[in-house]
Amino acid sequence: MTTFKWHATTPLTVQGARDFWDVRYQHDVTPWDRGAINPALVGWLDDKILQPCRILVPGCGRGYEVVELARRGFDVTAVDFSPQAISSIQSKLNASGLNAELIQDDLFTWTPEAIFDAVYEQTCLCALLPKQWRSYANHLAKWVRPKGQLLILFMQTDKAGGPPFHCDFGAMRRLFTDDCWHWPDTEPVESPHSPGFYELGIVLERK
Ligand SMILES: C[S@@+](CC[C@H](N)C(=O)[O-])C[C@H]1O[C@@H](n2cnc3c(N)ncnc32)[C@H](O)[C@@H]1O
Repeated sequence: MTTFKWHATTPLTVQGARDFWDVRYQHDVTPWDRGAINPALVGWLDDKILQPCRILVPGCGRGYEVVELARRGFDVTAVDFSPQAISSIQSKLNASGLNAELIQDDLFTWTPEAIFDAVYEQTCLCALLPKQWRSYANHLAKWVRPKGQLLILFMQTDKAGGPPFHCDFGAMRRLFTDDCWHWPDTEPVESPHSPGFYELGIVLERK
């Protein structure tokens, strides 16, 4: 039986993890879901820091950002292993007459046909177990072309446990290493999230 709690004993199988997320979408127990586009992304778009390109949204969930990027002329690929999440985005795209490539797959085994100009990562890293972060960071580095962008929001919970797992900024600085990524001198953008949580957003450039 699937529960809403992530237990230390929850098996780390792809199906176990997929069911964990999918059942939450089915029952609408989705506290991470803003129901709207992340204000950090709106700022990056309005300031033209992110311009129309081929972009990937991994762990896209219900994909408000996917629809907005498609509306603004991006060539969007969105990946999530939850069938509920993918079907929710498809309905929104259909209703708006927009297109994006939607892929229901496991991010750890999926391989894109071509690399991307940019990746928009929101609340997927913090949804993974910290022991998976190094592998996920390696995938992110492989998905972005040289000089491409990684627009990433680091979840701040200041609590132990998860998901969402706290993405300590110093630890993220070490995870997204200098040999792969150029870190800007600018301060991260703060995005409010659900009560007690916020995200720190930053744009890294692939070396
Ligand atoms: C916390 S939710 C965030 C969803 C969305 N990014 C948002 O901000 O609303 C994490 C998402 O990552 C997806 N996910 C987690 N692990 C995944 C994996 N290994 N492969 C594909 N999707 C995954 C889940 O299905 C879920 O939709």
